[in-house]
Amino acid sequence: MIRPVLILFSSFLCHVAIEGRTCPKPDELPFARVVPLKTSYAPGEEIVYSCLPGYGSRGGGRRFICPLTGLWPINTLRCIPRVCPFAGILDNGTVRYTTFEYPNTISFSCNTGFHLKGANSAKCTEEGKWSPDLPVCAPVTCPPPPIPKFAKLSVYKPLAGNSSLYGGKAVFECLPHHAVFGNDTITCTEHGNWTKLPECKEVKCPFPSRPDNGFVNYPAKQVLYYKDKATYGCHDTYALDGPEEVECSKFGNWSAQPHCKASCQLPVKRATVIYEGERVTIQDKFKNGMLHGQKISFFCKNKEKKCSYTEDAQCIDGTIEIPKCFKEHSAFAFWKTDASDVKPC
Ligand SMILES: *[C@@H]1O[C@H](CO)[C@@H](O)[C@H](O)[C@H]1NC(C)=O
Ligand SMILES: *[C@@H]1O[C@H](CO)[C@@H](O)[C@H](O)[C@H]1NC(C)=O
Ligand SMILES: *[C@@H]1O[C@H](CO)[C@@H](O)[C@H](O)[C@H]1NC(C)=O
Ligand SMILES: *[C@@H]1O[C@H](CO)[C@@H](O)[C@H](O)[C@H]1NC(C)=O
Ligand SMILES: *[C@@H]1O[C@H](CO)[C@@H](O)[C@H](O)[C@H]1NC(C)=O
Repeated sequence: MIRPVLILFSSFLCHVAIEGRTCPKPDELPFARVVPLKTSYAPGEEIVYSCLPGYGSRGGGRRFICPLTGLWPINTLRCIPRVCPFAGILDNGTVRYTTFEYPNTISFSCNTGFHLKGANSAKCTEEGKWSPDLPVCAPVTCPPPPIPKFAKLSVYKPLAGNSSLYGGKAVFECLPHHAVFGNDTITCTEHGNWTKLPECKEVKCPFPSRPDNGFVNYPAKQVLYYKDKATYGCHDTYALDGPEEVECSKFGNWSAQPHCKASCQLPVKRATVIYEGERVTIQDKFKNGMLHGQKISFFCKNKEKKCSYTEDAQCIDGTIEIPKCFKEHSAFAFWKTDASDVKPC
């Protein structure tokens, strides 16, 4: 059983001795291929390394011949990726990249207010060129804005080509009798369109009604419109509760509804009070009564502590409540000290 194997082995050795040793499969080189690629080569056989597409060779030879020793010579060839031109800067934008080598892809984005003109990514090709071509960031522009019905532009400064840059503004004004609903100012957005347009609507107000004990004046017209005004007044001894002038609002009602309120007759004949921060006497200051809304402070005595304090009273539409602590002295009760002459608590 042993013999045939031995014979076979020794004949193999003889063969090698005469012919030289065979070379093994050549070393693998990153990003390169070998032609022809076999598991063994007879002495004298040639192999050629070539870098894969996208890789260039550096150092060392590319052709090797299997020597009689059966050992491939040391190979110092290297295949290194092609490098595409520098593309790390994009005006008004940013580039995301690791390296600019084959086969990497880099991507682009623009700053707010700019948009990409071109592709948002590029690949470094086998030829060492970017594909597709590098993009640029162009400023965002908006076309001239549409004008809402019943409106006109009051502020708009377009560029030379009639367009506006990102952030540009236009302001609308409604025609007379029309009120604006929405924002009268529109802005050129980063998408190259304008923010929502406002609406202008015709607004009418009803004729204002005359207040009891007073009067109202308004323009002698068939119809009262947005921003028309009316003025109110009251008859003697009545005071206006609300503004003197009202305006037709965008909601079709008046900005306020003033009323005429009655003045108060004071049930007190004599008293020193505080009115608008000053000491006054009722008999001088309010001999014709108090108007609606006016407020005074009465002096009261704290008997235990022998000091004075004040309490407020306000005329509300003909009624005033005198503080309970207030005591009116007869003009003849000269021996009594009025609360207003007692030191404050
Ligand atoms: C856009 O890029 C240009 C060129 O680098 C620069 O002059 C300009 O200031 C940039 N604009 C903005 C808004 O960043
Ligand atoms: C800009 O707009 C004005 C008025 O609408 C028009 O007369 C002018 O031709 C426009 N210019 C351009 C460059 O479109
Ligand atoms: C209207 O829009 C402008 C910008 O377009 C903004 O600054 C302003 O606050 C807006 N006004 C209102 C009342 O929303
Ligand atoms: C502007 O364009 C953006 C993106 O196309 C869209 O989402 C937005 O609704 C548009 N705005 C207006 C006011 O039309
Ligand atoms: C006018 O109408 C609007 C909307 O209905 C309402 O909010 C407002 O309070 C009204 N104003 C007055 C003074 O009544």
